[in-house]
Amino acid sequence: MSFIDTVLIEKRAFLPSKQFAAEAHVGNPLEYEPLWNQSQRDPVAFWDEAARNITWINRWKRTLLWQEPYAKWFEGGTLNAAYNCLDRHLKEGLGKKTAIIWEGEDGSHLTLSYQGLFEQVCQLANFLERKLGLKAGDTAAIYMPMVPEAVVAMLACARIGVTHNVIFGGFSGHAIRDRVQDSECRIIFTADVGYRRGQEVELLKTVDSVLSEMPTVENVMVLKRKSETHLKEKQHDWRLVCNQEAKKHDARPFDSEHPLFLLYTSGTTGKPKGIIHSTGGYLVGVTTTAKWIFDLKSTDVFWCTADIGWITGHSYVVYGLLSNAATIVIYEGAPFHPHPGRYWEIIEKHRVTILYTAPTAIRACMRAGNDHPKKHNLNSLRLLGSVGEPINPEAWMWYHTEIGKSRCPIVDTWWQTETGSILIAPLPGVTATKPGSATRPFPGIVADIVNDEGRSCAPNEGGYLVIRNPWPSMLRGIYKNPERFKESYWSKFPGMYFTGDGAHRDERGYFWIKGRVDDVINVSGHRLGTMEVESALVSHPKVAEAAVVGRPDPIKGQALVAFVTPRGEESGLDVKKLTQELKDHVAREIGAIARPDEIKLTRTLPKTRSGKIMRRLLKELAEGKEPTGDTTTLENSTLVEIIGE
Ligand code: WT7
Repeated sequence: MSFIDTVLIEKRAFLPSKQFAAEAHVGNPLEYEPLWNQSQRDPVAFWDEAARNITWINRWKRTLLWQEPYAKWFEGGTLNAAYNCLDRHLKEGLGKKTAIIWEGEDGSHLTLSYQGLFEQVCQLANFLERKLGLKAGDTAAIYMPMVPEAVVAMLACARIGVTHNVIFGGFSGHAIRDRVQDSECRIIFTADVGYRRGQEVELLKTVDSVLSEMPTVENVMVLKRKSETHLKEKQHDWRLVCNQEAKKHDARPFDSEHPLFLLYTSGTTGKPKGIIHSTGGYLVGVTTTAKWIFDLKSTDVFWCTADIGWITGHSYVVYGLLSNAATIVIYEGAPFHPHPGRYWEIIEKHRVTILYTAPTAIRACMRAGNDHPKKHNLNSLRLLGSVGEPINPEAWMWYHTEIGKSRCPIVDTWWQTETGSILIAPLPGVTATKPGSATRPFPGIVADIVNDEGRSCAPNEGGYLVIRNPWPSMLRGIYKNPERFKESYWSKFPGMYFTGDGAHRDERGYFWIKGRVDDVINVSGHRLGTMEVESALVSHPKVAEAAVVGRPDPIKGQALVAFVTPRGEESGLDVKKLTQELKDHVAREIGAIARPDEIKLTRTLPKTRSGKIMRRLLKELAEGKEPTGDTTTLENSTLVEIIGE
């Protein structure tokens, strides 16, 4: 396992203040340690207890039925996810409590109470059910800007048992079409426009451009933000139609295993995977982790900066937070617009108490300079979170001192689209944190690091991160692809869930996660499959072959570098023009997030005799290093020749 070196040796440790610990849900190590130890011996018992945090219509009969790789959690139990996020809070008299604080890029804002959110969800649920005939078992695509209606759409679907498939608002028409067709959506929720960096993002136009290629789509719900937007056939004016509907709706029970949502994520092939999540287990996972890891209190104002198009948005903007009756902030706009202190301004304005963001954002803010946070009063903050990629100790320390004023614990949370909820993270009232470590598994999660043979590694020995037990919010499969489900997660090590990440564990049992060991790259906290970008590149008529690798980047974590062999004659080739054209092509095929940072045109690609592209060599080249190691298996004797260099 020499390829995963354990290079990080971090000695600093930070304990929560006495006051923080005294007030925390979990604040006494003498009580927590035995609980954690017991949860490692009997995870099912831990989760059985945790399931009482949510409201069931029928109680479950069996906590877990496990037939690897298929889990059924809380078998026989029935519930409604939207009821858990809304109705039950109204019953407790929280109708007036603020559910959502929405902030627009231009500084406009509005608040929505739990009662208000409930009414909007009911109106939409009534329309979908009665007028459009949508029912449990159907699937719906949600392609929305970061506005409260995006949450309304998710909860309205959940309320009537329609499985939602949120598609990130930055994806292209082709990406929408592929996801909508794979999941056979009957309806798409969208808005005419979103606003970002002072510009309009034309979501409806993007949907329209591929509507004819999505025959399963019968209806499009359009949130009109501009009065002049003209709607066509199949399209409904969201506000207008919902105004006709009753503000009440009876939430019906669904089976614990009923699929709450699908979410597409990149893997090691060219085709994204539709990850399936359940209702009961998922809700137990996100509700429990949100409460414990963020130490959620009824007075908290929680801001997670992730878009609802990613799993972070599903679990810690919507379900895990609303099920805990929290107040959430939703920001529609870019982090640096119109000025680099925008985040700190929002925190001050809305008295945010918990900020949950990604290392890439922290590093970008750090680069913008300390003056920006200094201009704002950040004393409402009491806890900080990090997610999406390993956080380097420098960024951690900056976050700690400049944003947390050395007073707020930091929770570095490790998890994945597939895991549904956070699996490895500190509990801020009891865990001593170390910059760069996600610390220890959550109770009820048996994580391990194993070598190539699947045996547990010794302390500080690098290996593969695996999970040894089933957990409630785990993925239930890949939509219409059971083979790929088994192959991706359950075949590398028998009896273990394979995460795809490399890691080591120190003497204290703390986990240090390094990043992916497969052909997946983490760019700005977003997962991209190299094959996906490669197939977008080769779909361009001027491309013969392409290979995409990651290169370390000080802000994004990883940057995308593509090696491309063009078709045809080299003489007369305009390198600059073609590389620009190819970058735009990828952005059009997938979305701006997949646009390569650099394209190198090459005469050939280095391959082994069996025809496999030697990525290791390309990675070294992308990093500007001299190729090391064995190149004798190279099929072509010359190394990579870059055209124009
Ligand atoms: C991959 C999952 C679920 C969060 C958003 C990303 C990396 C995530 C951490 C962390 C180190 C992390 C892993 C993981 N990752 N959080 N705290 N420390 N790495 O979700 O797109 O499903 O990506 O993100 O490599 O496998 P995702």
